[in-house]
Amino acid sequence: MTRIYNFSAGPAVLPLEVLEQAQAELVEFQGSGMSIMEMSHRGKEYEAVHNEAVENIKKLLKLPANYSVLFMTGGATAQFALVPMNLLGSGRIADYINTGAWAAKAAKEAKVIGQVNVIANTEKDIPTRLPELSALRFTPGAAYVHLTSNETIPGTQWRTFPAPAAPLVADMSSDILSRPIDVAQFGLIYAGAQKNLGPAGVTVVIIRNDLAECVNEQTPNIFRYKTHLEENSLHNTPPCYIIYMLALCPRWLLKQGGVEAIARINRAKAARLYAAIDASGFYKGTATLDCRSDMNVTFRLPTEALEELFVKEAAAQQLKGLKGHRSVGGIRASIYNAFPLAGVEALIAFMKDFAKRNG
Ligand SMILES: Cc1ncc(COP(=O)(O)O)c(C=O)c1O
Repeated sequence: MTRIYNFSAGPAVLPLEVLEQAQAELVEFQGSGMSIMEMSHRGKEYEAVHNEAVENIKKLLKLPANYSVLFMTGGATAQFALVPMNLLGSGRIADYINTGAWAAKAAKEAKVIGQVNVIANTEKDIPTRLPELSALRFTPGAAYVHLTSNETIPGTQWRTFPAPAAPLVADMSSDILSRPIDVAQFGLIYAGAQKNLGPAGVTVVIIRNDLAECVNEQTPNIFRYKTHLEENSLHNTPPCYIIYMLALCPRWLLKQGGVEAIARINRAKAARLYAAIDASGFYKGTATLDCRSDMNVTFRLPTEALEELFVKEAAAQQLKGLKGHRSVGGIRASIYNAFPLAGVEALIAFMKDFAKRNG
């Protein structure tokens, strides 16, 4: 078996230990005579797995008692619509901070539902950056303020979050559980699982319980947070196998020492890579220093032809998934929780050699 170093932005690398356990339990789950994929979602075996997934996430996030963990489907993209469908009552305004393609999509979808005020826009800035906290002017009486904690495409990440009077809603798809956060600062957090939590197919929603009561009358039951909260995310048949993986990945993370421990490793991995970029005189980071992401490290080479060659030669050395997003080009190394430091070292060695040969 050859496992490559997988720098993909998502779906992304999973811990080998988790994949091996899933493999061992695939055909028969814990002496039950069947796979977890074949079981009723109302049975006690699946229920234990489901509840462990919830509990592990609660533990890792140190979730305050007045918050709940929901498992939903449709990706983070469905949340772009569900957030306003639930929280944006008629006649109200939601503030959006546009920091890149994902934040822009969230705002666009919210406009279908109601009134949106884009209070800051750095989407097209080069170098890529986030707005200054002090420059944000929130709409008085806004229903909520939406931001994207880590922009996966340009590679920017909020270090400190704004503190508006309205509930803060964050798309944390690409950095959830990668660093400690104070959940109490947020009204609602959502994240597609396929970067830091497990495989694609489930979206984790962390909601302050009172916000689940803010039901817009026009919202069907299946699309209400309230429904999923009251039914422990078992209103309809959930993606059981993916949720099983969502019990295992956070269990693995707890074994690594939890979010504080993984954050130190993530910081070290990113710092090593940024230092190599900055020292090279050949590679150039694309985000401003204070906005650089620890999850998605983005950089350019002197020409697009060299970038193409870089991606091709790296892949031949088992360093795969380094091509930047098609909308921006360049190189992107996604180094989520499960990505090993040894892979970062291997990339740095390749980068030095490539620069020497092509610089
Ligand atoms: C920050 C962010 N938000 C939203 C999405 C969309 O997620 P999904 O494809 O799960 O809907 C992505 C996907 O890469 C993302 O990186």
